[in-house]
Amino acid sequence: MTQFEYKDNELYVEKVPLSRIAESTGTPVYVYSETALTDAYQRFTGALADAGLDARVCYAMKANSNLAVIRTLAVCGAGADVVSGGELARALAAGVNPAEIVFSGVGKTEDEIRQAVTANIGQFNIESLPELDMLSQVAHAAGTTVNIAVRVNPDVDADTHHKISTGRQQDKFGIDIGHTRDVYRRAAALPGILPTAIAVHIGSQLTDLSPFREAFTRVAELVAELRTDGHSITTLDLGGGLGIDYGHHTAPDLRDYAEIVAETLGGLGCMLVFEPGRYLAGPAGVLLAKIIYVKDSETRSFAIVDAAMNDLVRPAMYEAHHEIMPVRDPDDGAPPRKYDIVGPICETGDTFGTERPLPEVGAGDLIVIRDAGAYGAVMASSYNSRPLIAEVLVRGDKFSMVRSRQDIATILAQESFADWQT
Ligand code: LLP
Repeated sequence: MTQFEYKDNELYVEKVPLSRIAESTGTPVYVYSETALTDAYQRFTGALADAGLDARVCYAMKANSNLAVIRTLAVCGAGADVVSGGELARALAAGVNPAEIVFSGVGKTEDEIRQAVTANIGQFNIESLPELDMLSQVAHAAGTTVNIAVRVNPDVDADTHHKISTGRQQDKFGIDIGHTRDVYRRAAALPGILPTAIAVHIGSQLTDLSPFREAFTRVAELVAELRTDGHSITTLDLGGGLGIDYGHHTAPDLRDYAEIVAETLGGLGCMLVFEPGRYLAGPAGVLLAKIIYVKDSETRSFAIVDAAMNDLVRPAMYEAHHEIMPVRDPDDGAPPRKYDIVGPICETGDTFGTERPLPEVGAGDLIVIRDAGAYGAVMASSYNSRPLIAEVLVRGDKFSMVRSRQDIATILAQESFADWQT
């Protein structure tokens, strides 16, 4: 199923040897497989359809917002879940149908709200009363009415890394589920607002499905209450969060997930919106890097690569595990050696993996860091004045650079001396 496989001891993406991409674009570079993206989309929507669900997928483009990636998924039929004016602009530029754009996020500014109202997007997910009032003012002033979902906080622990758990009462997200009926009453009375939906998203990289069941069961109870109050609830937005396998074989089963949705919410006659990010983009991308030096210390061998934590921050930020593979695997029966794969940045946290088995490697050899298609390039920074790196999309035997490598001159050009220094 993966599009990253060895042929004749060479790692390929689809039909392209990764070494050829490295030669053409230089390293480090993010490489995405279009087929992996579209396959993941088909698997996701297929599982929902098989479970008998009326579903729309709004790709959580925070996972990977490269225009070419969004376009790939939009062509498959995906809408988009956006969380900023910038993401909205990207979704529109990539050709996503505005009616299939959901605007999530706890701190939408007035300008961003205006931008989204003007674009006529399909749904606003509201996370607080002041935000609801702001949206009402903007929509009313524009002479329009917008669909809203109230994002609820169901107080469910997603049992994932604490930095990406979003559905506990102490988290900043959503409105306490116990307050939803009041919020709905208020929303129904406000000009410019049409409350028709409930949204919930309890966290990311969930490997255990039971928190989903718990949250969705609470949402089902809430729908019944809101309907008793006289509201027409037509849509349920179930967020994203489905975990992927980063090499520990802990990924939940997609079909079980769909089954849980069907059991808890399938009978309510609602259209269901899903916002997967990582599931669609994560396994579709790798970070391709080159070894600069190998340094042996008393206890360790360090493979120092040209990618760093500014390019892929997940290991440093969440202690995330990513599999690391050599691009050329001699497969000669020699026992692997263990390397710490580290970047050039002046922090010990700039480590992609410790004691990882690799064939004997040396300067100039290429490696890939796997499952880097989600929350990789989008979280990059230019820390240590390292320019943002290139991104490449592959289809079959073709590849194309879909973001060029930033150059240091561009970075410097955005800065200036203070008036009194010139
Ligand atoms: N919907 C909402 C409202 C979200 O906040 C998120 C992710 C998603 C959907 C997509 O979740 P996914 O299907 O990708 O799990 N940077 C972190 C992940 C942050 C997730 C933030 N919200 C990481 O690298 O693990």
